[in-house]
Amino acid sequence: MLEFVDAKTRQRDAFRTDVLTGLARPQRTLPARWLYDDRGCELFEAITQLDEYYPTRTETAILSDNARQIANLCGRGAILLEYGAGAGVKTEIVLGTLEAPALYVPIDIAADFLEQTATRMRDRFPRLHVHPIATDFTSDFDIPAHVPAKHRVAFFPGSTIGNLDTAEALAFLQRMRRHVGPGGLAMIGADLKKYIPTLIAAYDDRDGVTAEFNLNLLARINRELSGNFALARFAHEARWNEAESAIEMHLVSLAEQNVTVAGHSFAFNDGETIHTESSRKYSIDSFSELAIESGWQVSATWTDADQRFALFGLSAV
Ligand code: AVI
Repeated sequence: MLEFVDAKTRQRDAFRTDVLTGLARPQRTLPARWLYDDRGCELFEAITQLDEYYPTRTETAILSDNARQIANLCGRGAILLEYGAGAGVKTEIVLGTLEAPALYVPIDIAADFLEQTATRMRDRFPRLHVHPIATDFTSDFDIPAHVPAKHRVAFFPGSTIGNLDTAEALAFLQRMRRHVGPGGLAMIGADLKKYIPTLIAAYDDRDGVTAEFNLNLLARINRELSGNFALARFAHEARWNEAESAIEMHLVSLAEQNVTVAGHSFAFNDGETIHTESSRKYSIDSFSELAIESGWQVSATWTDADQRFALFGLSAV
């Protein structure tokens, strides 16, 4: 219990520091991970069901359509390490496809969500062993020694790798390489660069769900850090950054205004923005280069007919 309280306090302190330093930058920036409080997770789930948001259903179809090849690559008795305990559909497809998977290791900082995922997978696959690890998968951590070293397959779907900058993505791929060890594998989903209006629509849907997801960050700051953001005085914007090959989410100040957070005051100009997320869009070549630089060899690339999304099968070199 004490540990849980400590973890909550540490989380609150980290949020406060990130918000106060991020809002003081010339280009105000808040790290995207803070978008995911309970309401943010619900809204993200709703985003994945939107017509305009193609990544989730495209990746799910790629996994189903290539089930046999994925099973062949992973081999019998795989140990699946999943970074971020997913809502489960993609995990279920993979675990249902693999030949006698030995162990499923979901890794996530949200302990309650992790337990739910573990329970669901135990119910769904009664012969499967499940060993959840409650940790921040973006931090540097080791896989516990009780997880057998052979046949490890790292699974990182959803194009979450796109929310990391290049240095972070490299470090993440290197860490995964270390986690699976020699002879290990990885399966990573990455969204591909495409017609810009299609990308903009995916991040600025007509029902306003993504706008609510983005604005919820201000509501969270108000709630958790005694902020006084007037949500109606900020607007969601999705824009394309060609140099970064990324869709960026911003919150645009609709007036000149002062905002207070945790006793600190911030003066916004009319039109000034807070950058809340980047979602990088790769090409098959640019992602492959990153993987190779991190100690992987690209063994398979699976895409949909329109080349919207790619799933990479990587082998440790
Ligand atoms: C979680 N992540 C891969 C999503 C993305 O597409 O970058 C987050 C998201 N932001 C707005 N819509 C979805």
